[in-house]
Amino acid sequence: MRYKSKKFLIDGFNVDKIAKTYKTPVYCYSFKRLRENIKDFKKNFKRINPLTCFSVKANSNKILLNEIGKLGLGADVVSIGELLKALKSGIKPNKIVFSGVGKTKNELSFAIEKKILLINAESKSEILEIEKIAKSKKRKVNVGIRLNPNTDAKTLSQISTGKKENKFGVSEKRFLELTKYIRHSKYMNLKCLSVHIGSQILDIKPYEKMLMVLNKIIKKTNYHFEYIDLGGGMGIDYKNSNKKLNLKKYSLIVKKFKEKHKTKIIFEPGRSIIGNSGILITKIIYIKEGHKKNFVILDAAMNDFMRPALYNARHRIIPAIKNESQSNKTYEFVGPICESTDKFSTNKKFQKLHENDLILICDVGAYGMSLSSNYNTRPKPVEILIKNSKIKIINKRQNLKDLI
Ligand code: LLP
Repeated sequence: MRYKSKKFLIDGFNVDKIAKTYKTPVYCYSFKRLRENIKDFKKNFKRINPLTCFSVKANSNKILLNEIGKLGLGADVVSIGELLKALKSGIKPNKIVFSGVGKTKNELSFAIEKKILLINAESKSEILEIEKIAKSKKRKVNVGIRLNPNTDAKTLSQISTGKKENKFGVSEKRFLELTKYIRHSKYMNLKCLSVHIGSQILDIKPYEKMLMVLNKIIKKTNYHFEYIDLGGGMGIDYKNSNKKLNLKKYSLIVKKFKEKHKTKIIFEPGRSIIGNSGILITKIIYIKEGHKKNFVILDAAMNDFMRPALYNARHRIIPAIKNESQSNKTYEFVGPICESTDKFSTNKKFQKLHENDLILICDVGAYGMSLSSNYNTRPKPVEILIKNSKIKIINKRQNLKDLI
């Protein structure tokens, strides 16, 4: 993904041409980047030989899931919908883990029937429900318990999950009680301790603290967990400033931890696998003069890409074709939706823009399309994948007729 003679190319394809063929807005993914990310992840964690389950919530496109599965990853799912998609994409049940605070009876039954690797339970009520279903099916089900380690991930508060005020996992006290309960159950195998403290974590320290909490609680349980699922959360470099989580450092501390507890490690990365492999190509509809800035009104909006509106997240915005002229006014990039938060970024410095120019929103591969909606009765965009010098549509643009 780079400029050549001032034109932005994705794996050799000119963005201008992509937009002409597939119209805008369009989510465009690079298979090459995805494969590199997976290779990089595997290389960094090779010393601990983990089972890596891609967090399907980050991107649940079936063709991408199929590619991710073929590259050796399993899946971390949080609903029957995600589980079905993972299975349909060819990911084997013995590489699937199921997380989430509110799995219904129907979802648990289905997961048990499919014999997935683990159900990571998040409450006493859920454990009792699993036991009831297992008993009725005369089965012994593999379960994990998700611990809330009360660890601050030092990330955006909206995507922090490991503090005691967050709804996820169970407290240490409850964890010890549940461990005892499951050990004596005829219908459950206690296989795993799981945690996930948050997302877009850039610093190693929260992970260090989390592992310290786990060391203590494992000692207290006096139980050998076959698996320890450390969740995901590895942050990526959205600002292009070389600040991302040092995976190598993380793997070194996990290696020590793994050796101490003689266990298998599971990871559930989402963003670090797919985040930087997607770009949203959008076109300027109008440029409107405002009081102190010009509004650049794009044909993509918060329904297509929600992260800036929902978390105030910042994504790099770049032109498809570079020019030499500099605008003398601040540009605010917005969508057409009737909400003031439908805004992608405010840029004081940007090249001079014109209506119909193409604009690229970077690093939208994770929590982009998967968070999109039909708000304002807007059809969802098309998704395309560039692989081996070919472009294919991996999800058609929604049809307005279907919506109406
Ligand atoms: N495992 C569990 C149990 C999770 O809840 C999550 C994310 C992951 C793994 C994957 O985390 P990752 O490696 O992608 O950071 N929509 C937000 C992110 C929400 C993350 C929710 N859980 C965003 O756009 O930043």
